[in-house]
Amino acid sequence: MWPVSNKEVIINPRDFQYACELGELTPGKPSTFEVDDRFVVLVQLDGQVYCIEDLCTHDGGTLGDGELEGHCLVCPRHGAKFDVRNGHVTCMPATENTPSHEVKLDGSRIMIRLND
Ligand code: FES
Repeated sequence: MWPVSNKEVIINPRDFQYACELGELTPGKPSTFEVDDRFVVLVQLDGQVYCIEDLCTHDGGTLGDGELEGHCLVCPRHGAKFDVRNGHVTCMPATENTPSHEVKLDGSRIMIRLND
C-alpha cells in the first residue's frame, strides 16, 4: 500500500494506470490519451494493443496524428517511423527510440505502465 496524504493516494509511476476502454480504440488507427500528465498513443493491431509515447524524438512531433504502415507509426512532420511494438525508431530523421509502455487488459479497461 502506498502512502496516503490528505486523503489523496500517491500513485507509484510504476503501477498500471487506466488509459481508456478497449471500445474507444479503432483497430489500425492510433489514438492519443493523457495518462498521468503524459500523452501516449494506443494502437490496436493484429489483436494486440500497443502503447508508445506520443513523442517523436526527432523534433517533438506528436505521433498520434500519424498514419500506420504495418507495425510502424509515421511521424506526420518529417516522416520518421517508430515500431509501435517497442518504440524503436526504424526510419530517419529520428535516431532515438521513443518510450514504449506495458499494456494489460482488465476486462474491457486498458491499463498501461509508464516507462521513462
Ligand atoms: S518531428 Fe517527427 S520526423 Fe521530425
